[in-house]
Amino acid sequence: MGRPKITIIGSGQIGGVLAYHATSRKLGDIVLYDVVEGRPQGKAIDISAAAREDEFDLRIIGTNDYADIKGSNVVVITAGLPRRPGMSRDDLIGVNSKIMRDVSDGIKKYAPDAHIICVSNPLDAMVTLCQRYTGFPHHRVMGMAGVLDSARFATFIAWELGISVRDVNSTVLGGHGDSMVPIVRFANVNGIPVTELLEGKYKGDKEKAKRVMAALVARTKGAGGEVVKLLKDGSAFFSPASSIITMMEAILQDQKRLMTACAYLTGQFGVLGYYVGVPCVIGADGVEQIVEFELTPEEKEMFDASVASVKELVDCLP
Ligand code: NAD
Ligand code: LAC
Repeated sequence: MGRPKITIIGSGQIGGVLAYHATSRKLGDIVLYDVVEGRPQGKAIDISAAAREDEFDLRIIGTNDYADIKGSNVVVITAGLPRRPGMSRDDLIGVNSKIMRDVSDGIKKYAPDAHIICVSNPLDAMVTLCQRYTGFPHHRVMGMAGVLDSARFATFIAWELGISVRDVNSTVLGGHGDSMVPIVRFANVNGIPVTELLEGKYKGDKEKAKRVMAALVARTKGAGGEVVKLLKDGSAFFSPASSIITMMEAILQDQKRLMTACAYLTGQFGVLGYYVGVPCVIGADGVEQIVEFELTPEEKEMFDASVASVKELVDCLP
């Protein structure tokens, strides 16, 4: 019985860290692909040389030939340009749309049965293009953003409360952009609402607690840009790689995890025919279920605005 085969298209900052991270979880053999000659091959040799000390027996190869991705079970797409300071994710749509065409053609030809996790920005638009260009069923084409955005929300909550982030549950829905929707009422620490913990921390000062929560929401929405501004020559890659691993592992091990994924909606949350970040059950069949819940009027207004920004971008795609 062979090991799963994972292909990572785009061996840059995220792709390289993702490949190495995947070995620590022993998820399967890895193919690193890139258009830049030498980049995937060099990173594959480097990661392979960690095998003895990190105690993994996996095959990692680097290639510039799509034929090498043949038979992949999961394909992660990180190919594309990252943001530079001052750029929005939407500014990437032109160049990354062209890349998505090439990438999708390669996957369709050599890995027609794969599950695709798209990461490239602007995320919601790139997932849409990937599904259109590959023609794969919607449940096998998803986007990673909500896991990252939810993890960022949890991190900032944990810092504010001085508790382990492992005990924080958080959900961010909508498009992967400034209009994303952190669901404040769902944020909790082992079931205790964060809003109550903040009121406790600020000795019943509800207004102060509300201001602090609003700041946590704002920082979550801006976290991508905050890292881009600090790094100056690229965007986040460690936490995106970890977020991709969560989705990849759920598929490969049929974990049926509930998480936010950019998935194709067929009427859920009042959305028809668009990819948007919503709660999904992820397992061996990819997006196995979209989990709906009733949004409050305020949440629905924010979610609808986020969907509108996705629609605006998607409707101008080539
Ligand atoms: P990077 O520039 O380090 O890596 C991108 C890689 O893609 C490069 O090695 C490049 O050579 C390669 N590439 C370019 N054209 C290609 C093609 N046609 N086929 C195959 N490979 C190609 O960028 P990064 O920091 O790894 O980010 C990758 C993408 O992920 C960017 O679009 C970035 O905005 C996005 N991103 C998304 C999230 C998210 O939450 N969804 C988070 C962070 C970054
Ligand atoms: C992020 C951007 C780059 O880091 O998508 O969230």
